[in-house]
Amino acid sequence: MKGSFGQFIACFLIKVNNCKIAFKNGLNWHNKLVSTLEKTTKFNSTKFNSSMKTKKVVIVGKGKVGTHLAGRLEAWGFGVSFFTRQSGDLKKFEELLKREKPKAVFVTIDTKKEDKGQAAFGYLESCIIHDVPVITCEKGSPAYHAEIFKKNPGLIAYSAAVGGGTQILNYCQGRFWYDQKVEIHAVLNGSLNFFFEAIAQGKNCEQAYEDVLLLDSAESGSTDPLSFVNNERRDLYMKTAAFYNMLIAKDSFITPEQLRYFDLDQAGLKRITEGSDRYRFVVSFLSHRGPNKDQWEVKVAPRKINDDPFYSWIPGGIENGVRIIEGENGIGGKYTLVGDGACLVPTTSVMLADFKRLCYL
Ligand SMILES: NC(=O)c1ccc[n+]([C@@H]2O[C@H](COP(=O)([O-])OP(=O)(O)OC[C@H]3O[C@@H](n4cnc5c(N)ncnc54)[C@H](OP(=O)(O)O)[C@@H]3O)[C@@H](O)[C@H]2O)c1
Repeated sequence: MKGSFGQFIACFLIKVNNCKIAFKNGLNWHNKLVSTLEKTTKFNSTKFNSSMKTKKVVIVGKGKVGTHLAGRLEAWGFGVSFFTRQSGDLKKFEELLKREKPKAVFVTIDTKKEDKGQAAFGYLESCIIHDVPVITCEKGSPAYHAEIFKKNPGLIAYSAAVGGGTQILNYCQGRFWYDQKVEIHAVLNGSLNFFFEAIAQGKNCEQAYEDVLLLDSAESGSTDPLSFVNNERRDLYMKTAAFYNMLIAKDSFITPEQLRYFDLDQAGLKRITEGSDRYRFVVSFLSHRGPNKDQWEVKVAPRKINDDPFYSWIPGGIENGVRIIEGENGIGGKYTLVGDGACLVPTTSVMLADFKRLCYL
């Protein structure tokens, strides 16, 4: 077509007009059709069917997430068995799998500092051996044991591990980054986001920490603002490694230690919570295209965001978010997803959605 840009626009407008006409004409027909259907058709949307009632699932860990999830699964018609630390070791867990033959296992344990996802990995491995689908919200295993996820995509789901209710991994998985430059910036820890939002509103560390405790979304084990910030930062580094391992890595994976995780001291916390500057922990993944190999730069750091328009997409409160800029100068588009990161209902909703998808419910 020789057409100019003007002709292209004209053509587009004509198409829009045609659509309008078609829609107007179609409306009467559509109304008639709907009234016919109303009289004759009932859609069956029962929440569960009787065969589900006899199905069993196992939840590993009986903390906040595990308990809340159990209530929702029972309301959905599943019989729930818990496997706790008191239930025994992995041998006992495998006996339970053989005996109960659960439809799926849910791993809802926390990641102890020295454990590095090893405990969760053990449960995942047992499920794979026994061919039982497993859904996890724990982050140590995708951060430190990524291979098992890559090798068993049809048996393990982990959407709640990064971005909680927002499903950031699934959103990013749907994009194509192989032949263009890409920048990904993300807020991956809702509690840290909430804490720094409160600081930006003029609260001191203690007040901001008290607000976080009311939300009940902090990682286990914190006792004061400094231990809270460090626990959440550790969580953030695990999520960063998990994001890279699950979405970007082809053969070699990274760990939080390779991202140079270190605990902040009181002076470090003071530096980023005093004064009028606004800080946020933003994670960035930047691709550098080379002739033979792509390289990715990963940054995890408190950023001074102040009123910088570049950071205008950053959500407030407890929310997580991701901003993707594709192509040179964003020629491939700029995309933003924002939503709830932690909290029990969003997290368990994502785990149930994973269950539905993995088990074809
Ligand atoms: N809370 C949220 O909103 C949220 C959102 C997204 C993801 N998550 C993730 O979900 C997981 C659970 O969070 P939570 O808030 O429910 O934590 P939680 O209340 O501390 O519960 C964790 C439970 O797991 C148990 N556990 C730990 N290691 C175990 C093992 N090896 N075997 C059996 N049980 C074990 C703990 O028992 P002990 O006390 O005996 O150790 C505890 O009962 C964490 O990985 C967290 O990062 C939470």
